Amino acid sequence: MNRQAIGGKCALYPSLTTIVGAEVDGRPNWMTIAHVGIMNHAMGEFPQYLSIGVHPSHHTSAGIRAHGEFSINIPSRAMLAETDYVGIVSGKNTDKSGIFPVQNGKLAHAPMIADCPISIECRLAQTVMAGEHEIFIGEVAETWIDEKCLTEGKPDLKKVDPILFDFTRILYWSLGEIIGKPWNAGKALKNRER
Ligand SMILES: Cc1cc2nc3c(=O)[nH]c(=O)nc-3n(C[C@H](O)[C@H](O)[C@H](O)COP(=O)(O)O)c2cc1C
Repeated sequence: MNRQAIGGKCALYPSLTTIVGAEVDGRPNWMTIAHVGIMNHAMGEFPQYLSIGVHPSHHTSAGIRAHGEFSINIPSRAMLAETDYVGIVSGKNTDKSGIFPVQNGKLAHAPMIADCPISIECRLAQTVMAGEHEIFIGEVAETWIDEKCLTEGKPDLKKVDPILFDFTRILYWSLGEIIGKPWNAGKALKNRER
């Protein structure tokens, strides 16, 4: 292997392409966010936290700050054009509220996209500045999933068909194949005699 140093670049891609929803001036506003972090992950244990890295200039940020609530929606590949669109125009000068059908859930100010296979309602728990970006850390309040995307009661990524984001080459990707089982694929090495 011939490895080159390419500078201190964030090469942690692909990441998941999401659409964040918030209420701004009484209307839902949507923006594409591909820098989402999973915090305090657990299988069914609460509280669980998700973080989004957002530039403070975005219109959506004002709604998150004002109401302390937002949603994270996972679009499928079929929604690629709309997903990209809400990431290239701003609610500051374009009304994006009618782009998606809205679903309201448990929280009063975290509009969700009814068309997305998965939506997560978040209550703002903490805000941290990291350089140029505001990191909104949300406590998960409720998660919604299209029944058609469940297999044996669990979200099935093949059915969700999410959009993956590559910031290094500026590309969207789709999911590949299942290649193994976590906490299992390494067992052969663990048991191998040394
Ligand atoms: C694929 C994609 C991913 C993006 N990811 C982020 C992100 O993680 N953080 C961010 O601040 N902006 C991100 N953006 C830019 C915002 O979505 C964009 O500036 C949007 O127009 C903001 O909308 P608003 O001003 O209505 O809130 C992304 C845009 C695209 C197309």
